[in-house]
Amino acid sequence: MAKIAIMGFGTVGSGIYDIIVQNSKKLRRNTYGEEIEVKYILDIRDFPEHPQKELFTKDFDVIANDPEITVAAETMGGLHPAYEFTKSLLLAGKSVVTSNKELVATYGTELLELASQNNVNYMFEASVGGGIPVIRPLHQDLTANKITRIAGILNGTTNYILYQMFTNNRSFEDALSDAQAKGYAEKNPAADIEGHDACRKIAILASLASGTAVDYRDIETDGIVNITLDDVKYAEKAGSVIKLIGYADFLPGGRIYAVVSPMLVPRSNLLSSVNDVYNAIMVTGNCVGDLMFYGAGAGKLPTASAVVADIVDCVRHRERPKKIGWEKPEGDINASRDDVTFSYFVRTPDTSDNVNDIFGSVKFISEDGNERVFITEKLGGSDAEKAFSALSSVTTALRVLD
Ligand code: HSE
Repeated sequence: MAKIAIMGFGTVGSGIYDIIVQNSKKLRRNTYGEEIEVKYILDIRDFPEHPQKELFTKDFDVIANDPEITVAAETMGGLHPAYEFTKSLLLAGKSVVTSNKELVATYGTELLELASQNNVNYMFEASVGGGIPVIRPLHQDLTANKITRIAGILNGTTNYILYQMFTNNRSFEDALSDAQAKGYAEKNPAADIEGHDACRKIAILASLASGTAVDYRDIETDGIVNITLDDVKYAEKAGSVIKLIGYADFLPGGRIYAVVSPMLVPRSNLLSSVNDVYNAIMVTGNCVGDLMFYGAGAGKLPTASAVVADIVDCVRHRERPKKIGWEKPEGDINASRDDVTFSYFVRTPDTSDNVNDIFGSVKFISEDGNERVFITEKLGGSDAEKAFSALSSVTTALRVLD
């Protein structure tokens, strides 16, 4: 019998309980015969109607001090007290699984080291892509590959908003209210629409793919708040859509260029057809080529199913923990913006200069007396900045994903 605790009985935590109760036979098979039993549920709220209300506790120490508890699922979200609780549990020789991307991106390196020192597991499949298996495949199935690029739609809320703008001509504000009403958005939707949620997720993926910690604070991050219906209209005219992309390029010498930004995604790219609240992660390996992981990036049962998979893995690997993670880098691993090149989608009211002289040759999407819209050649970051500053004003400038 594997006795576990669930810490945080919100959307994901309650999903874990439901899955463990409903799929107990299946789970027992997968743990090679060990039944998984929820012994405690930690939450500051009361759940008097719950069929097993005796499981609830408000006292973390009850869990930390119970030698029967071998695995805890942390689905509280936020940094504190999730960080302190996780640390205590790992130090007490208990494995921890989590859906908390903020915690993994901020303290993951330290917590992974602590898990390793205490011979336990720290697993975080649900922290990126909700129910989509991507952490374990990156660690396990793609282990023979050197990962050269990751480009993903990592935030369901922003994908939903952009999809509504494209398909239903809805304004940004209107689509955001709808996403909030449907429960997709974070408590504070700024984390979604300003790109911070996607930033933490690409930092986790880039760290895992490279084996060295990528600090999310080093990642240039731009959200979708400035995308307008006019941008959408011109993107369509260019045979593309606009998606919020978490991007990481793994360069020779171990340097990494990562960015989160709305990008123009041509219809020829599979990511362009990832609609609604769905997530997808395109991973390029030097042996396998391009792979795409697609599915529900948020929601109760999809996300909880990824947490439960980690619980099962912890039970299976109690004696010999799995080391899924990364280490501190030696020196600076951040590539410069001039190490990579992108084409740019540009809208400018400046009709005075010859944009071909400024950008090299451009492909016009629209040109009238008031505005020019075009796609540039591929440029490094400094060259792009120099070219933009030669225009009197730029309405929109978005990287193009190739
Ligand atoms: N707010 C997040 C999203 C939830 O919209 O993708 C899942 O991490």
